[in-house]
Amino acid sequence: MPTVVIASPKGGAGKSTTAILLGTELAHAGASVVMLDCDPNRSLALWADRGPLPARIRVLASVSESEIVKTIKQHDTDGQIVIVDLEGVASRLVSRAISQADLVITPMRATTLDATIGVRALQLIAEEEEALDRNIPHAVVFTMTKAIKSKQHSGIAESLAAQGVDLIDPPLMERTAFSGLFEFGGDLRSMPPQGNMDGAIGNAGQFARAVYQRLTGEV
Ligand SMILES: Nc1ncnc2c1ncn2[C@@H]1O[C@H](COP(=O)(O)OP(=O)(O)OP(=O)(O)O)[C@@H](O)[C@H]1O
Ligand SMILES: [Mg+2]
Repeated sequence: MPTVVIASPKGGAGKSTTAILLGTELAHAGASVVMLDCDPNRSLALWADRGPLPARIRVLASVSESEIVKTIKQHDTDGQIVIVDLEGVASRLVSRAISQADLVITPMRATTLDATIGVRALQLIAEEEEALDRNIPHAVVFTMTKAIKSKQHSGIAESLAAQGVDLIDPPLMERTAFSGLFEFGGDLRSMPPQGNMDGAIGNAGQFARAVYQRLTGEV
């Protein structure tokens, strides 16, 4: 089963939030999910400690550079989806994780500064593709977007599309429920209502389906 690596050298781009939303939505849909926390700041481990883990999710914390490839191979077995959350840097650990990916997702705020730094993830992927002589599917998802799309957002989307970058639709909107994951742990369904819950669950579910479709080719 597939390994999805969430990578961006930009700090605070929404990587850990994207990893948790993807993992919890896929688990809710019936998948077994193993989440690897490779960030020394331990965002996923902190989330996992915060509340009861949803069914079918396991979190392995403190996965280091020397263990990452072995750990992915161990868990990348039938019936499990591996999701890897990384620190916001470019490092050998990040490159090793990317080398094992069936899909790399780069979360990115739709602002010029964030996009400029975020696209460096695409460079890292290109380097791994060259080293391994294989295609590594990758996609960008805009995070923390507002209900009304800014000109900057549209401009960056057009520029990415012109470079042939796969942009996941829908983006992950800025939502109180999404930041609430780190406060309450668990998933969107277990937390006390935060803002528009139906909207948040709908957004996360559609995002996870769009990712699943890329992994399987199924609609
Ligand atoms: N879609 C969203 N809606 C609301 N808040 C969000 C959203 N995405 C991220 N956040 C908040 O923004 C902050 C940074 O998000 P997150 O920790 O997911 O980013 P990151 O890329 O993993 O950061 P780091 O590089 O430090 O690992 C957190 O406080 C998180 O709760
Ligand atoms: Mg993080």
